[in-house]
Amino acid sequence: MKALILVGGYGTRLRPLTLSVPKPLVEFANKPILLHQVEALVKAGVKHIVLAVSYRAEMLEKEMKAQEERLGIRISLSHEEQPLGTAGPLALAREYLCADDEPFFVLNSDVICNYPFEDLLRFHKSHKKEGTIIVTKVEEPSKYGVVVYDENSGQIHRFMEKPKVFVSNKINAGMYIFNTDILKRIQLQPTSIEKEVFPKMASSEQLYAFCLEGFWMDIGQPKDFITGTSLYLDHLKKSAPDKLAEGSQFKSPVLIDPSAKIGKDCKIGPYVIIGPGVVIEDGVCMSKTTVLSDAKIKSHAWIQQSIIGWKSVVGKWVRMENTSVLGEDVEIQDELLINGAKILPHKCINASYPDPQVIM
Ligand code: GDD
Ligand code: MG
Repeated sequence: MKALILVGGYGTRLRPLTLSVPKPLVEFANKPILLHQVEALVKAGVKHIVLAVSYRAEMLEKEMKAQEERLGIRISLSHEEQPLGTAGPLALAREYLCADDEPFFVLNSDVICNYPFEDLLRFHKSHKKEGTIIVTKVEEPSKYGVVVYDENSGQIHRFMEKPKVFVSNKINAGMYIFNTDILKRIQLQPTSIEKEVFPKMASSEQLYAFCLEGFWMDIGQPKDFITGTSLYLDHLKKSAPDKLAEGSQFKSPVLIDPSAKIGKDCKIGPYVIIGPGVVIEDGVCMSKTTVLSDAKIKSHAWIQQSIIGWKSVVGKWVRMENTSVLGEDVEIQDELLINGAKILPHKCINASYPDPQVIM
């Protein structure tokens, strides 16, 4: 089986992290987001994955070529000269996708869940129509593609991308399976699958919904990244509790790379991810936070609901909260307050920021 993953897009909403690394390679729970998806596809029997890329492909190519051998599959890159949106890349990869007559998966690269690809395939084969999309329920549907469908048969009646008025709270989860027939609907030009293809498939009764059970999140912006981490860790607590940190310093769930060093008298958790090579000094207090590789948190820092970029350093007694995000290699000097700031890579900060803002 084959899959195409949409890894273009500039990832602007996940800045400052995406100023250093393309969105699909940002580590979510200590593993590039893309790799969570690729491994799940391989588990479901996918042997060939096409990465549809529109910018900064070098880093992706290098990283994913290294995975080809490890996973025993083929990974191809399909380069767009200009961004082709969410449907155009399927036309560009036509040769790969039509290599046989089997259905293929298509994924947005920024969604996390427990990826029920085998069940999706089974359901798709059962109704014999052109496409099936995974749907989930959310509180704030206007940020997403919204679907109205028959809950018994799964048939989608309407698909609306980011509607301004409330239509339904069931949304497109950004994961699909299609028959090769869908390619007849898509030209090689910038095209939105959500705005231009799905509404037509729905009106010709060719689009079905598969309802997701369990957690789901689009982690393409910092606040959702942090929420997604909590959902993922809760899931891990139930499905693989042995992977989580144990001990009096940790309030579960907490995930720590074995190469990280943790000092004495810390209070870590709940919902903390600590990456490889990270150093946490004594007395640090931290919850709902991801610390990316090789960062250092100095003693008695207090950090809540934040993302600390690669190689960044947080000073002693710093207080950081409210969806603060440090880019790569940022230094926060001792005893400062950082509230909701997004700090661009390679900055040294020597004053407090009591209000949310972007620091260039
Ligand atoms: N190759 C390529 N080329 N990929 C692209 C391009 C492009 O020009 N533009 C966007 N992408 C990729 C992004 O990298 C992402 O993986 C995916 O397409 C969706 O783009 P987003 O920018 O993340 O869209 P969204 O989050 O606003 O909305 C989409 O996802 C929601 C679920 O998270 C839509 O599919 C919604 O309908 C859906 O509900
Ligand atoms: Mg998204």
